[in-house]
Amino acid sequence: MNEQLWKKAEEFIHQCHRELQKPEDETSSRLCEIKEEIEETGSYTHTYEELAHGARMAWRNSNRCIGRLFWRTLHVLDERSRDTEEAVFQALARHVTFAENGGKIRPVITIFRPSLPGKGDIRVWNHQLVRYAGYETADGIVGDPASLELTQRCEELGWRGKKTDFDYLPWVVQIGSRPPKWKEVPSGLMKEVHIVHPELEWFSELKLKWYAVPIISDMKLEIGGIHYPLAPFNGWYMGTEIGARNLADENRYHKLPEVARRMGLNIERLSDLWKDKALTELNIAVLYSFKRAGVSIVDHHTAAQQFKLFEQSEAQEERALTGDWTWLIPPMSPAATHIFHQEYENATHTPNFFYQKKPYE
Ligand code: ARG
Repeated sequence: MNEQLWKKAEEFIHQCHRELQKPEDETSSRLCEIKEEIEETGSYTHTYEELAHGARMAWRNSNRCIGRLFWRTLHVLDERSRDTEEAVFQALARHVTFAENGGKIRPVITIFRPSLPGKGDIRVWNHQLVRYAGYETADGIVGDPASLELTQRCEELGWRGKKTDFDYLPWVVQIGSRPPKWKEVPSGLMKEVHIVHPELEWFSELKLKWYAVPIISDMKLEIGGIHYPLAPFNGWYMGTEIGARNLADENRYHKLPEVARRMGLNIERLSDLWKDKALTELNIAVLYSFKRAGVSIVDHHTAAQQFKLFEQSEAQEERALTGDWTWLIPPMSPAATHIFHQEYENATHTPNFFYQKKPYE
């Protein structure tokens, strides 16, 4: 009998049933059932209720996430019975459509089958279900530099991108030791938002855009000792993720110098704070464009206020709050939020999401 798994299962079921206010006899009979299943098979199967609540707890325990106020609203899609690459592609497409919801983004997780003794894991190679490719070319990097390696791996599998700055990487699904299979993301599946500015008319000439929904697809979900290596999940964007990081970081799209020049700023003098001015306008543009396109997004000040409400509701429920300060503070004007002025205990509780080894390395 796998004692370690049993211990984790027991702990999870107790907490889950307590939070769902289940009667005690139900808890003890469920525990007997789980014990038997572990003895017989070396693993156990979550009920949908356990799966759904476990996934919500995992979000609640995600120390780096500022959006946790909404953990109870997570939609949980159970795709544990999918067993072929084609069926996985179809389930991924369902996730995108359901999450995007015409712009009114829903927080969603799709859970595929867990790691099981004697069975190969199902993985996708993608970091997010939609992300732009990146290429090393004779005139420098085209696209998203963060995707260089995965893009290369995809090319090795025979995929060819158009080599624009905004090509969707294909989905790459791998089941056990079978060769990976790739498929283009169905066109039109995910909305993209063109970045325009409410006052600066030239902004659209920068030809910047970003996709509507960030869907992390390379993290492992752990619930009660069961590991789900494929469980893509999403919320909606906080503006700074795009405006202060993806489009701004020097090792990403690196757009601040161009924005500043178009604003007529002298980019030779750091002390003029041209970067800060450009950052502000770029972030105003991102928020404005998403709103104009009818796509959910939150600014960092509102997100911080929502996080404050999360802190209060956790205190009310008498749960100790955990958090990773270095990630919770927004990358713009951090000290203008309460988070900056507070300390958080960065302890890891399960259920949770974990980094795992890249399948293509
Ligand atoms: N920071 C990542 C990105 O810019 C997305 C991480 C998840 N973000 C979220 N709002 N749920 O693509």
